[in-house]
Amino acid sequence: MNFLCSKLHIIVLVSFMFSYSLLSTMASASAASLKVGFYKGSCQSAETIVRKVVNKAVSRNDGIGAGLIRMYFHDCFVRGCDASLLLKSTPGNPAERDHPANNPSARGFEVIDEAKTQIEALCPGTVSCADILAFAARDSTYKTGGIYYAVPAGRRDGRVSIFDEVAQNLPPPFFNAEQIAQNFARKGMSLDEMVTLSGAHSIGVSRCSSFSNRLYSFNATHAQDPSLDPNYAAFLKTKCPPPTTPGAGREPLLALDTVTPNRLDNKYYSELRRRRGLLTSDQTLMDSSLTSRMVLNNERNGASWARKFAKAMVHMGSLDVLTGSQGEIRRICSVVN
Ligand code: HEM
Ligand SMILES: *[C@@H]1O[C@H](CO)[C@@H](O)[C@H](O)[C@H]1NC(C)=O
Repeated sequence: MNFLCSKLHIIVLVSFMFSYSLLSTMASASAASLKVGFYKGSCQSAETIVRKVVNKAVSRNDGIGAGLIRMYFHDCFVRGCDASLLLKSTPGNPAERDHPANNPSARGFEVIDEAKTQIEALCPGTVSCADILAFAARDSTYKTGGIYYAVPAGRRDGRVSIFDEVAQNLPPPFFNAEQIAQNFARKGMSLDEMVTLSGAHSIGVSRCSSFSNRLYSFNATHAQDPSLDPNYAAFLKTKCPPPTTPGAGREPLLALDTVTPNRLDNKYYSELRRRRGLLTSDQTLMDSSLTSRMVLNNERNGASWARKFAKAMVHMGSLDVLTGSQGEIRRICSVVN
């Protein structure tokens, strides 16, 4: 009996491993050509330059670290990690950068530009903006959370950025767990990776408009979202006026994680357990049976969450990348060559 059981196990395991590795081989055909140390021969100090520029900027303003990590997510989920987010709109072509999901909230563009300028002076036409952004997100993760990982590089820059593709690819803050899971699944990212990466909301800020429906106009029976801690809601109401009152357009910024707002750590998950997730898309992770166990695991085991976070950042950095002779190496990150 025991023997039969374990034999069955092995068969199931082997067939699972086979189909899994087949799938992942297909999904990462071009990601496989990203390499750690890609610029070793061509621009030895590229990663050092990015790190210094990022460290300086984040030392001055912690929020820049949050901005760069978010920018990487917004770049990779829309048309792959090709720095399409960095391109400015041109006449007749509104770009990703100007979509309300990015403008005015995205921050850190000037850090990428500064790193690019220094790198171009040293090794012109060699290091892509997409790789600079991937390095900058890693360095921000290390600086704000002490989480380090090596970044496979060799991404090339795209020549296209389309405003409408943002809403088609990025989940809005009012999505529930199931909807966000579907959004991540379309990118080949797992439920656990989704919950793990949401931990990035352990740093940074949000505008009232991203969550004020939870305070004033939740649904037909509840003005206020019942999943929100009432004390926290009362505090938020003192900061965010009802959308119709004069001055509502001023949009104060509120910390996504009120306990350790500038430290990338797993306190975010304890806040979710205490019903103090700021966005619907945060709180839903605790309230949905799909993901609540993952939230509790991440709260209990910070070291394991940090390892998973690093791995998921690398995975996200491989989404739909351009490599080899695809795309180009932009000279200036905000315009195509
Ligand atoms: C799971 C679905 C997600 C949704 C719906 C979402 C939505 C949002 C929203 C609405 C804001 C606030 C924007 C504002 O009002 O100013 C925000 C901020 C932020 N997001 Fe997400 N996000 C998600 C996932 C992620 C992921 C995967 C990352 C990175 C790994 C990330 C990193 C950040 C960071 C760091 C901030 C703060 C940015 C700053 O302070 O400049 N988010 N997110
Ligand atoms: C309003 O939200 C509450 C809590 O999520 C839910 O139980 C209720 O069914 C909702 N009501 C309507 C009318 O959608």
